Amino acid sequence: MPPAPKVPLHIAVVMDGNGRWAQRRMLPRVAGHRQGVESVRSIIRVVGERGIRHLTLFAFSSENWQRPADEVGFLMELFLRALREEMDRLHDSGVRFSAIGDLSRLAPETQQLIEEAQARTAANDRLWLNVAVNYGGRWDIAQAVARAVAAGRSHAFPDYLALAGQPDPDLFIRTGGERRVSNFLLWQMAYTELYFTDVLWPEFGAEDLEQALAWYAGRERRFGMTGEQVREVAGG
Ligand code: IPE
Ligand code: IPE
Ligand code: MG
Repeated sequence: MPPAPKVPLHIAVVMDGNGRWAQRRMLPRVAGHRQGVESVRSIIRVVGERGIRHLTLFAFSSENWQRPADEVGFLMELFLRALREEMDRLHDSGVRFSAIGDLSRLAPETQQLIEEAQARTAANDRLWLNVAVNYGGRWDIAQAVARAVAAGRSHAFPDYLALAGQPDPDLFIRTGGERRVSNFLLWQMAYTELYFTDVLWPEFGAEDLEQALAWYAGRERRFGMTGEQVREVAGG
């Protein structure tokens, strides 16, 4: 096995803390979601500049439907608007866009824009951006198994997971202070390095990403082997 590169190939992010960011400012929670879009723009730019090839952002979980209807509605509108307003720029900067999750529950207009954006950016290869919407790690495993069985390929069910064909995340970042995975990429994060920060998502910027990357660079990824074995391979 080659030595683990010190820059992650794939980063997965739970963008948490929007509501608390707003509440601390006496603003409605949704103001935090709006501000969070700015952090999304900035992390996509910085990640691209640092040569990271895959970025997976958790935008809406399969459990987030349980929130008040007006907050859910606002988040869906915000996602639709971001799709409309950002896709030209993303395409021009060489970003390939995918949405992962059970998209059948999204508005038909949103589903159509997703399909168009995916088709339009499919040949871009600078950065592969996956946005998880109505995504749950348990849903992902269950749908992959169901499709694999239907195809008579149950042994190959990982081929049917939402991120099939992309490397597993090397680095997981969760903002907002909680130390949990909240049903994100359960299968894919078996050996991912887990980084947690108290910074709230609307305040997460380039310096915070640099800190996470520096922390990652100091990890020794052993994949079940001994440290001696890993260092022997790394040393040639
Ligand atoms: C994350 O921020 C965004 C979504 C879950 C959509 P939250 O809205 O969960 O913010 P907090 O955790 O309440 O502060
Ligand atoms: C996880 O955040 C989901 C997203 C960031 C989209 P939550 O705020 O929903 O997670 P819990 O409820 O605190 O675990
Ligand atoms: Mg939260």
